[in-house]
Amino acid sequence: MSQQERGNFATKLGIILATAGSAVGLGNVWRFPYMAGHNGGAAFIMIYFVCILMLGIPGMVSEFIIGRHSQANAARAYHHISGGRRLWQMVGYLGILTASIILGFYAVVAGWCLQYLFASLTGQVSGEASYVQDYFLSFSSHPWKPVLWAVGFVLITHFVVVKGVQRGIERASKLLMPLLLVLLLVIVAASCSLPGAMAGVEFLLRPDFSHVNSSILLEALGQAFFSLSLGTACLCTYASYFKRDTNLLGSAVQIALLDTLIAILAGLMIFPAAFSVGVEPDAGPSLIFITLPNVFQQAFAAAPVVGYVIAILFYALLVFAALTSTISMHEIGTAFFTEELHLPRRHSAWIVTAGCSLLAIGCSLSVGAVEGLGLFGLSLMDFCDYLTAQIMLPAGAFLTSLFVGWFVDQRLVRDEFTNNGTQSLHFFRAYQFSVRFIVPLCILLIFLHQFGWL
Ligand code: PHE
Repeated sequence: MSQQERGNFATKLGIILATAGSAVGLGNVWRFPYMAGHNGGAAFIMIYFVCILMLGIPGMVSEFIIGRHSQANAARAYHHISGGRRLWQMVGYLGILTASIILGFYAVVAGWCLQYLFASLTGQVSGEASYVQDYFLSFSSHPWKPVLWAVGFVLITHFVVVKGVQRGIERASKLLMPLLLVLLLVIVAASCSLPGAMAGVEFLLRPDFSHVNSSILLEALGQAFFSLSLGTACLCTYASYFKRDTNLLGSAVQIALLDTLIAILAGLMIFPAAFSVGVEPDAGPSLIFITLPNVFQQAFAAAPVVGYVIAILFYALLVFAALTSTISMHEIGTAFFTEELHLPRRHSAWIVTAGCSLLAIGCSLSVGAVEGLGLFGLSLMDFCDYLTAQIMLPAGAFLTSLFVGWFVDQRLVRDEFTNNGTQSLHFFRAYQFSVRFIVPLCILLIFLHQFGWL
């Protein structure tokens, strides 16, 4: 299929915003602030930043090289660049499978966010703290409501993806990403202006090295992967729509910085408001669905309209962040079926939508109406989360790094990295060292630690 038929991103800004849209998601707005808060605030942020620089950026560039060089879906890209080796094609398949499973459980949380956006518009999530808690518990265990919202979210994603790379993905990202940034800044300003808010800012930005230990290091690494969408072939698929003259390292740096900036801003949105009302933000779904509605309500008790508006903006922000990420997960499978089965894009998108919706239904029921639906003592939802984030994703990034560092013709890697010699070779040497040694070693450490062998 020619590049004309496949489509590509039309502008540099489109490339950055679409790829940053994939990276910026619930991982930034929900998971990062909690992790930073519980792992020594700025100390965690500094370690996270080193992980992004040393591991994340080289990992991103590796996927970009494979995707841009091959201009094909992930499975074909690995196959093509390895000179037709089946083994490496498997890494492409692994990425497609990982992204589809993530879409299955991510859509459940995204569906909750969408439901909460409507509920906050109609004022349903305001009231006593116990009411807000009951509201979440009764909603999430309802036999069909959360299932419908999850499937609804997959369908919204579907309709953006079928519109194509430029008219669907690029256009949606150009609209949603600036909106997301504006919403975030408005909420950060409101949150930081509350009485006592500075204690929250200080907590997040004052490094407390007494918390630092090996497990924090590994948590920071894992968070960096998930947040950058690394190891799912997502970046590889998006890079197949990049232009030949796109600066791969420059784009990776810009996207990684934007992703980190948004994660820190999300912390500055949550912590000052929580500290202002004396609440310690905790983990898991309860943070955004139980704790924060209460925090907004109490923090703006003097002006309830402001609290009402902030809650709406907050859930809109979550929905936008989740949507630009689910679009990228959906696109990986859609591109694959379109090119491998020679189907029209809208038909292949339906295959992904049907498969992921089924998984989303299972995941939603497993944490709601159907207790015991799961594997290895975990609910299906937690199992999918564990399997992808802790096993498949690092495995994908590890294999990709070995592949690009040791198996792909290094002249090809250098030519892609430097755009045929038009970019500096110094950075290439540093990249090559990192992708050969640092990235695989660090991922190996995560694995060994996770299975208790370290
Ligand atoms: N990076 C996204 C987030 O932070 C999640 C994601 C993972 C998206 C893998 C695509 C692929 O929420």
